[in-house]
Amino acid sequence: MKKIVITGGKELHGKIRISGAKNAAVAIIPAVILSDGVCRIENIPNIMDVNLMANILHQMGATVNRVNKTTLEIDPTRINKPEAGYELVRKMRASCYLLGSLLGKFSEARVALPGGCDFGVRPIDQHLKGFGVLGAENSVSEGMINVKAEHLRGGHVYLDVVSVGATVNIMLAAVKADGKTIIENAAKEPHIVDLANFLNSMGADVRGAGTDIIKINGVKHLNGTTYSIIPDQIEAGTYMAAAAATQGDVVLQNVITKHLESITAKLREMGVQIEEYEDCVRIRNSGRLHKCNIKTMPHPGFPTDMQPQITALLSIADGTSIVNEAVWDNRFKYVDELKRMGAKISVEGRIAVVDGIESLNAAPVKATDLRAGAAMIIAALSAKGTTYIEDIQYIERGYEDVVEKLTSLGADIKVVYTEDSVIHHTA
Ligand code: EPZ
Repeated sequence: MKKIVITGGKELHGKIRISGAKNAAVAIIPAVILSDGVCRIENIPNIMDVNLMANILHQMGATVNRVNKTTLEIDPTRINKPEAGYELVRKMRASCYLLGSLLGKFSEARVALPGGCDFGVRPIDQHLKGFGVLGAENSVSEGMINVKAEHLRGGHVYLDVVSVGATVNIMLAAVKADGKTIIENAAKEPHIVDLANFLNSMGADVRGAGTDIIKINGVKHLNGTTYSIIPDQIEAGTYMAAAAATQGDVVLQNVITKHLESITAKLREMGVQIEEYEDCVRIRNSGRLHKCNIKTMPHPGFPTDMQPQITALLSIADGTSIVNEAVWDNRFKYVDELKRMGAKISVEGRIAVVDGIESLNAAPVKATDLRAGAAMIIAALSAKGTTYIEDIQYIERGYEDVVEKLTSLGADIKVVYTEDSVIHHTA
């Protein structure tokens, strides 16, 4: 078994470069299917989820050429079936974006039901509602979702909940539909804007991305393009939290500070010093962190994908903090792992009450999902002793070179391979 081993207590110092945004990349790669030419995508993070998505396109008939570590060239013109293979697709949530892009390209799609991190129920009713407005019927058979339109045409979609996935999927289906689509109550995340910019660089007509009304005029053809993905807001936020947890002084290069505003505001409230520059940010902390309350919200609110990492920080802050998870039903599974390290946290539904303690103690723990894994890393960096983190495949899904980056900042971190588990969890 592969584990991350961290001996805590080292202050992080130095500079690292933030990678391209995972959640933009996993939307933009399927969007390439809509193109009639070759797309060159730069600043792609070299992580499992992205490589899985590129493999899915390859299996579907696309030519995928890795130009270098962070650049892919994809020729989708040989994809001629509106179907994506079961085995790879069911491993990741974002594979449901293939529904939108295949529907946009072929007016039909057949894709396995998506997998991904488990935060309770993860419905796709809003995606299907949007496809319905565009004229597509849906059905489920043998673990696959089928969507099909006789005539894919624009329409007016009002989302009942703000959903990143539904907004992406409806945009993908609508860019080549006949006529105008309006998405109201759309998600405003930076990766939605990035997807719109990518689609427009192929010749699409998408306006309003980043606001809650997106207007799309369907076009007949989309051309190949060269496009560079935005930096990863959550990866940056995770290293900001790591710097704060270790009383460090760290500069993160290749960031868009505007995307970090909600994270920066909360870290400042906790007493962390943050200096913003054009495309980098410096994080310094020298004292005990202060308590603060967090409520996760769709962008521009505090991102749910930073909730576990900030809770790890609050577990060593001075005082009692309340964390309210307002996006997902069940995103506190990792709290039991933090408790193994001595954290005092009680969870009631979507609320966690965090009683900050002086410091955490090392323990064998596991990553229960991607961001939970990031929270374990932050906790371990600050803890006394040596922590073993299991199930690091979740971390590898979303963080490029995490061990190398933290090592370059002075952390005592390595990957080890062991015969079997050192952790004996009870059910
Ligand atoms: C995206 O997931 C992200 N994933 C998640 O990040 C992130 O946590 C989430 O957005 C919220 O920001 C990707 O971008 C690949 P949603 P998504 O649809 O699109 C409800 C990470 O760690 N909902 O915005 O699946 C849903 O239950 C990952 O990088 C419906 O009710 O999330 C949830 O409560 C994990 N019906 C809320 O909306 C629907 O049809 C937000 O979900 C769709 C969603």
